[in-house]
Amino acid sequence: MSDRTWWREGVLYQIYVRSFADSNGDGIGDLRGILDHLDHLEWLGVDGIWLSPTMPSPNLDWGYDVSEYRDVHPDLGDLATLDRLVAEARSRGIRVLLDLVPNHTSDQHPWFVDARSSKEAVRRDWYVWADPRPDGSPPNNWVSVFGGPAWEFEPSSGQYFLHNFLTEQPDLNWWSEDVRGEFEDILRFWLDRGIAGFRIDVAHGLVKDRTLRDDPPATDDDLADVRRLGQRPVHKMNRPEVHEIYQRWRAIADAYDPPGVLVGETCVPGLDQLARFYGTSDDELHLCFNFPFIFADFDAEALRKVVEETEAVFPSSAWPVWTASNHDLGRFPTRWCGGREAGTRWALMTLLTLRGTPFLYYGDEIGMTNVPVAEGEVRDTVGVRLSSEAGRDPGRTPMQWNADRGAGFTGSEVRPWLPIGDAGSRNVAEQRSDRGSTLNLCRDLIALRRRTPELRSGTYRSLPSPPGTWAWRRGAGIVVALNLSDEDTTMPLEPATILIATDRRRDGEQVRGELALDPWQGAVLGLSS
Ligand code: GLC
Ligand code: CA
Repeated sequence: MSDRTWWREGVLYQIYVRSFADSNGDGIGDLRGILDHLDHLEWLGVDGIWLSPTMPSPNLDWGYDVSEYRDVHPDLGDLATLDRLVAEARSRGIRVLLDLVPNHTSDQHPWFVDARSSKEAVRRDWYVWADPRPDGSPPNNWVSVFGGPAWEFEPSSGQYFLHNFLTEQPDLNWWSEDVRGEFEDILRFWLDRGIAGFRIDVAHGLVKDRTLRDDPPATDDDLADVRRLGQRPVHKMNRPEVHEIYQRWRAIADAYDPPGVLVGETCVPGLDQLARFYGTSDDELHLCFNFPFIFADFDAEALRKVVEETEAVFPSSAWPVWTASNHDLGRFPTRWCGGREAGTRWALMTLLTLRGTPFLYYGDEIGMTNVPVAEGEVRDTVGVRLSSEAGRDPGRTPMQWNADRGAGFTGSEVRPWLPIGDAGSRNVAEQRSDRGSTLNLCRDLIALRRRTPELRSGTYRSLPSPPGTWAWRRGAGIVVALNLSDEDTTMPLEPATILIATDRRRDGEQVRGELALDPWQGAVLGLSS
């Protein structure tokens, strides 16, 4: 695997740091905890980890409200520990990406404290301020992603400021050249320290319409998220001018060897819009999360359709990303599979064998499911302020390392920051010693991908297959075939050998002319040449 393109061929893994491993018994996961578990990541075979926010923050949005961009949150560790993590991970072939939050800061960030102090403040125009309408109401109709108006009135100056998320997360003004310069410095600060790249929070949202025009109403074609808010964000986000920023970032990132990797949280509805974030000549983001895939139903036709469209609309240089769980949308074994193990195996096989970079979310490898969080234990502000159902805690609970009290995440007497799921029935230690486990399937798929050039970089082509199934070819020699229906099925196939099946008892089986699959079975096959 070439050093320069490790992120295309490798597997990435998202760590929600507060929930991965607690090294000092305060109930909160931390950087040392990750250092202590590098063995697991190396054994699993991942090539890179993306750490959810690590920077100082008052934690109204658990780090997505940054109060200092060049440091580490004291709950998680310090700069020296992060440096050590980067070095030790690197020595095991694992690179570290940080979460960068450029759309907004915390209202506690000194920039905002200054900006809100007066209309004449030095950093006033680092944020988006506007006068009320004549009747005193907010400057336009924009609504916050977290509900309610996206504007907050600041009585001392008589103006409103914009917050597309919590009121405590004021949006930066990306029309300001000073803001742009500052973030370019922040990128260099971390890349110079050996950080391998960034996941860019709300990547599609940085630039706002310059004249703050109202957004139009949502339509039936919009994603569920947009329909929920009732308006289509074409002015408060998704401005075409954002691309200029990423062209500048890409030039900065590409000056490093290997280049810093830019991964966008590009939550845009259309695949053509998504393609645009790679740049018109491969000069913007390296990787972009594919939300139409994440939001697709867990249905063979629906998923195949998104993949085929992605393949069709992406320019040849754009490299897809496949992911199914994250800290906002929860865990796919629940969301997609309703806890059904065969579905979890099917989805892992899909993620790891499509053409593109898979991002696993910590716990995906053992099929962790969402954990119900009782009303009084909700920690996500969105859950507290809106409704506990809207809260994102169930997908953020501690990693289940073993069956001990504390699940190996924290000490047995410690109260973890979020409740621990049923670690007795699902944990790393037990699955590791079980050859047939989901964990070993995940690891074996990663290893197969590593040693099989077609799986790393071969072309994708759908193959004809019966309803409720999905089959595709990678390069010349690999076929993946999955049955996502409750019926037995067969499909015609050239002579081949099953390299890995979701039902591991079938590994090594020879197939001649026809492949039979039980309900919810899948297999990766090598064609006999
Ligand atoms: C992104 C993050 C989410 C956060 C929001 C505001 O969508 O993934 O967790 O709440 O941005 O920063
Ligand atoms: Ca801790």
